[in-house]
Amino acid sequence: MDLKGKNVIYEGGFGGIGQHCLKQFLAKGIKNLVIFDLKENAEILENLRKSYPQSKIFFVQFDITNKDSITKAFIAAVEKIGHFDVLVNGCGMMDDTKVDLMIDINLKGLINSTLTALPYMDKSTGGRGGLIINISSVAGLEPTSAVTIYSAAKHGVTAFTRGMANPVFYDHHGVSFITICPGITETDLVANPQTKATFEYAKHLAGLLDMAARQGPEICAENLVKVAETGKNGGVYKLDLGEIKEVTFPVFWKPVMKSSTESS
Ligand SMILES: NC(=O)c1ccc[n+]([C@@H]2O[C@H](COP(=O)([O-])OP(=O)(O)OC[C@H]3O[C@@H](n4cnc5c(N)ncnc54)[C@H](O)[C@@H]3O)[C@@H](O)[C@H]2O)c1
Repeated sequence: MDLKGKNVIYEGGFGGIGQHCLKQFLAKGIKNLVIFDLKENAEILENLRKSYPQSKIFFVQFDITNKDSITKAFIAAVEKIGHFDVLVNGCGMMDDTKVDLMIDINLKGLINSTLTALPYMDKSTGGRGGLIINISSVAGLEPTSAVTIYSAAKHGVTAFTRGMANPVFYDHHGVSFITICPGITETDLVANPQTKATFEYAKHLAGLLDMAARQGPEICAENLVKVAETGKNGGVYKLDLGEIKEVTFPVFWKPVMKSSTESS
């Protein structure tokens, strides 16, 4: 998608990866940016407004674990900017000691946010179509035992987003879906992983994450916005160690139609 002149909503925009993505989107000449996050970061907001005066930048407070809060945030955003072309679901949390919160933020919140956004974008009901980018993880591609609940939630994000890219849906609403799977990226989310492990007795497994090579949030953000410009509906993109790689999946199962089993 050509991002120039577009309206973007970025959820989790004040996070480590998010704040760099905001700059990258603004550098593309987007018209309006609405940042959804749990807390306002006045300093980032002011710096962005100074650096990118050609774009209008708004903040809407929301809590992705609360469906009512998501609904109100989209109403507030649309009141400000009229419509949006791109939604990035970029909230996240990694702490396997908090099972419900992990699922509520990383998976349930992302699904609720997507389903709340979709009617605004739906071409069949007067919307303009657009693009929804859901941030999964490399832990949403490979089981990651150190943080196995986080990994399960992120596998859910990958499956949900791939499923939402079904051409039958696309033909109806005109919204493309892209899954982004960052590798380990230097942000607060991955700080002190030993304290966030699924099991206290295996916290050394999470400690290994500290020893693994990681990328900076700047290059991850630059690559996310490149994918927003060039990625295809249903595409899953691994952004690891400064590189973009499209991930393809084997087909493990397809429903077999009753008629074909009866005739064989
Ligand atoms: N950092 C990594 O190594 C890494 C790797 C793969 C995927 N990711 C994913 O990338 C995304 C961004 O992660 P990050 O590393 O920038 O993390 P981060 O902790 O720096 O940012 C997370 C953002 O989510 C927001 N958030 C958390 N709970 C919320 C809630 N209840 N309601 C509203 N907002 C909430 C935070 O306020 C913050 O802005 C997440 O989806 C994360 O899972 C990160």
